[in-house]
Amino acid sequence: MSTLLSGKTALITGSTSGIGRAIADVLAERGAHVILSGRNAERGEQAVADIREAGGKADFVQADLTSADSARTLAGQARPITGQIDVLVNNAGVFPEGATTDTTEEAFDAVYNTNVKAPFFLVAELVPAMAERGAGAIVNVSSFAADKAAPDRAAYSSSKAALNNLTKAWAKEYGPSGVRVNSVAPGPVVPEEVQAMIAGDPRVAAVTDALPARRFGLPREIAEAVAYLASDAAGFAHGAFLSIDGGAGLA
Ligand SMILES: NC(=O)c1ccc[n+]([C@@H]2O[C@H](COP(=O)([O-])OP(=O)(O)OC[C@H]3O[C@@H](n4cnc5c(N)ncnc54)[C@H](OP(=O)(O)O)[C@@H]3O)[C@@H](O)[C@H]2O)c1
Repeated sequence: MSTLLSGKTALITGSTSGIGRAIADVLAERGAHVILSGRNAERGEQAVADIREAGGKADFVQADLTSADSARTLAGQARPITGQIDVLVNNAGVFPEGATTDTTEEAFDAVYNTNVKAPFFLVAELVPAMAERGAGAIVNVSSFAADKAAPDRAAYSSSKAALNNLTKAWAKEYGPSGVRVNSVAPGPVVPEEVQAMIAGDPRVAAVTDALPARRFGLPREIAEAVAYLASDAAGFAHGAFLSIDGGAGLA
């Protein structure tokens, strides 16, 4: 087990599945005490048990990130577990498809509340203590879609564009206080077990043939980039955008 994140506590939103779960696994392997979060307590507690069994330190805090209050409550419940949060990974996200004309106000709000408002108020809640200590790292999980015209996902891709702007604004706002704010932009990522299930489906080839990588990414490949940006090895990274997308973001 590497010790790159030893002594640090990392709060990872949306870590009950997919990319967030892989981030929790990798940060725990690097020595961090990870606090997982999401709505699904069963999956969260199972992840905690798996990480502890592998020798890591982990806890779960249930949260439905739909409002400023829910973000503040999560921060308030996570902080006392070890006494401080050193790393915040804003990973929880929802990504419904649909034409603009078919998108209800409720669906739009669900996207922006989880993808933009929750990260905004988690940062507002957690950054002051980081700044007071003169150290902290925030990693926002964005998307290759943030910079693309996505006619079937306009609400989603615009929410990630908003998150990208927040990454830049926060990097300037809090960098001088020792808090680094950076972003990882995944391309199409599918967990290994799901890739096995959908292998041979012509819709898979339609996506992967368009990628220089010629395949989907794996959650761990995103998690490695997050772990780097969260660690002191990335001490000079402020407002960086790491595209880990198989080339999906290339023009
Ligand atoms: N997979 C991709 O191809 C891809 C590509 C680009 C960017 N991304 C971004 O990567 C991030 C993770 O995506 P993923 O593919 O790993 O998706 P996923 O497997 O669906 O995981 C999403 C996570 O977010 C949590 N979540 C969703 N709504 C929530 C809410 N209201 N409150 C709290 N937690 C909530 C879910 O937990 P619960 O179900 O327990 O609530 C889950 O842990 C997202 O921000 C996504 O936009 C993914």
